[in-house]
This record gives sequence, structure tokens and C-alpha cells, in this order.
Amino acid sequence: MSKLFESATINGMELSNRFVRSATWEGMAADDGKVTPKLIETMVALAKGGVGMIITSHAYIRQEGQAGPWQIGVYEDKLIDGLKELAAAVHANGGKIIMQIAHAGNFAVEKLTGLVPWVVSDFEGLAETPRHEMTVGDIRALTVSFAEAAGRAKAAGFDGVQLHCAHGYLLSQFLSPLYNRRMDDYGGSIENRARIHLEVLDAVRKVVGDDFPILAKLNCGDFVEGGLNTADALQVAGLLADAGLDALEISGGVITGGRMSPSRMVKNDEQEAYFKNEARALGDKFRIPLILVGGMRSFETAEALLADGTADFISMCRPFIREPDLVNRWKSGDRRKAFCKSDNACFKPGMKGKGIYCVTAEVEKAKLED
Ligand SMILES: Cc1cc2nc3c(=O)[nH]c(=O)nc-3n(C[C@H](O)[C@H](O)[C@H](O)COP(=O)(O)O)c2cc1C
Repeated sequence: MSKLFESATINGMELSNRFVRSATWEGMAADDGKVTPKLIETMVALAKGGVGMIITSHAYIRQEGQAGPWQIGVYEDKLIDGLKELAAAVHANGGKIIMQIAHAGNFAVEKLTGLVPWVVSDFEGLAETPRHEMTVGDIRALTVSFAEAAGRAKAAGFDGVQLHCAHGYLLSQFLSPLYNRRMDDYGGSIENRARIHLEVLDAVRKVVGDDFPILAKLNCGDFVEGGLNTADALQVAGLLADAGLDALEISGGVITGGRMSPSRMVKNDEQEAYFKNEARALGDKFRIPLILVGGMRSFETAEALLADGTADFISMCRPFIREPDLVNRWKSGDRRKAFCKSDNACFKPGMKGKGIYCVTAEVEKAKLED
């Protein structure tokens, strides 16, 4: 049997295989962030489709940190009941579910929240509307909000949480010299820029306890001029591992990064697994499980990355939008590549309130029916 189908554990969480559904904004929550039946249905399809570990979309931990419409919220206790239903439905279908907890910082959508976005540093050219530069008191409040959100995820029966430190959102902005121009203990050296991450990890750990998995998604580089570079990113990975993180998902790029965004085009085999070299640079000494995301499309590539020790888990986003049952398809012996075309057309229906789906698959189906 391929190692991809071998079971594994992350801090006591038992996983049936090495496949992870990377956090994916579905645009399916209610206006106030509550879980909906459609969202539950989507997650159940992934569990039934054989995904070992499902990571939710980024759930906003504070209202001024909402990144987009119909995003899952975890900012108040009133949301716990819906989250409980979601976790229970995934468990009933044999899956494990992790909540990605996040704050959008400068990319928060003021039109939705009616609140001024929080930023690491305010400077000319940052945004067209006013921003609130976080005080040290705000940093403390943010830390508390992350911890409370994690507590809600645990109360709702989730199997763990993932800190969203990637893709240009608030925690990622702290790491980026482009956004972080602070002169206090949270700016300057990479140790200072990563201080908040360690404080959040510590605060979350205190709330959820030692035996509850805490993961993080981290950029291996921002791939924009002046952003987080790979040397600094790898140092942050080490700091988080030393501080008791349970698993690290390596991603890269920022949402404004165009061609070099987290969701790149994958046109051929060479373009697959586009962060593999950065993941390899972490080296053998990296002690915690490594989850690799970004352009995994063929079974053989996924298998080779596990076999050569680059990664312990294979994480995908877009392939599962088109084929929630991809893992079962591969397991059944049909090892054709994921049918995903990596064109990112899936975002569009989500922005229109229809929830994400594979637009390209629909177009192909319509052509066949013609
Ligand atoms: C529709 C869509 C929504 C996404 N939402 C999130 C998200 O909520 N949190 C996150 O960390 N990444 C998000 N991403 C990025 C993916 O998790 C992933 O890192 C990226 O798409 C590369 O993986 P892939 O090639 O398997 O799609 C999203 C990507 C897409 C296409």
C-alpha cells in the first residue's frame, strides 16, 4: 500500500491517511458567519470522499478581521452551535476537522464589517481608506481573541485548530518587512516580527491544553518585493516548532501576488508542488510533521514527496473543489491526475453568493451535453 494511505497521528489526532484538504474559503456561511446546511454538505462530501484531515476555510476571530463575504465566523459564542453541527457531521462520516482561525488585517473588508481594519503599521500608500495601527494593547487583545476562538473550536468538537500565518493576512503582515514597519518589540528583527506568533501559540495552548492539536499555515516566502523572504520564513518555522506547534503547513505567496499568489497555475509536471524546494530547505532536523500545499496534482508526485521525506502530509485545495472524492478515486486504483485545471475560476461564484464550485467542470459538462 502506498504511504499516502497509511494512517498517522498529530498530537493524538488519528488520521486515516496523509491527505489534507487545505483551508478553502467556500463563500457558503451565513451573512453573520454562521454555519449553513450547504457548508455542512460540502464538508461531508470531503469526509465521504476519503480526505483524512479537513481544514475549514479561514474563520474570522474578530469582526473587524473579516476577509470576505459568507466567510465562517468564530468571533462569538453564539456561533458554537452551528460549528458543533459541522464537526459532528464530519465525524459521523469518518473525517477529522480542523478550524483555520484568522484575522485579515489590512485585507479586511470594511464594507462588510463597517469597522476600520487593523494593521501592523499605518503608512502612506497602504490603503485608500483609514486604517488603525495596532497598539501593544491591541496585540494583547488579538492574542486573547485567537485563544477564545480556539476555545470555541474545541467546545464545538473540532479536532484541532490551524493558525493562519500565511498569504498576506494579519499574522503574515507581521512577518513581512513590507507591512511591518514597527519600531517596538514587534518589528525589526525576524524574532521581533514573529513575537506575536509565539504569543498567540502560547495563549491558544493555555486555553486548549497540551493534547489538542495546534497547527499553523506559514508562507515559505511572500514572493513580492520587500516581503518575507525564505531564510526568515524558515527561521519562523523553527521558532514555532520549538515553541510546541504540532504540525506546520508550508504555503507561500500573498493574495495580491498575481502569478506568484498562493494559488498558482499548474500547467505541467514541473510546475507541480511549487513550494517543494523551500520545504526541503527546512532539512531533516525539522522535528514536527510537515504538510505541503501548492499545486499537487498527480498521485506520483504526492507519493514521491512523502517517499523522499519532503513532506509528511499532502495538502490540496482546488483539486478537491472539482473532485471531493479524489482520495477515494486514487485509492480505488484510478490514478489519473486530478482533473483540476488550476484556473481559479472557482472563486467567482463564491463572490456572487453562490458558493464556490468548479466552473470549468460545469462548462465541460455543458459542452458534452450539447
Ligand atoms: C477558492 C479558494 C479559497 C481559498 N481559501 C483559503 C483559506 O481560507 N485559507 C487559506 O489558508 N488558503 C486558502 N486558499 C489557498 C489554498 O488553501 C491553497 O494554499 C492554494 O490554493 C494552493 O493549493 P492548490 O494548488 O491545491 O489549490 C484558497 C484557495 C482557493 C482557490
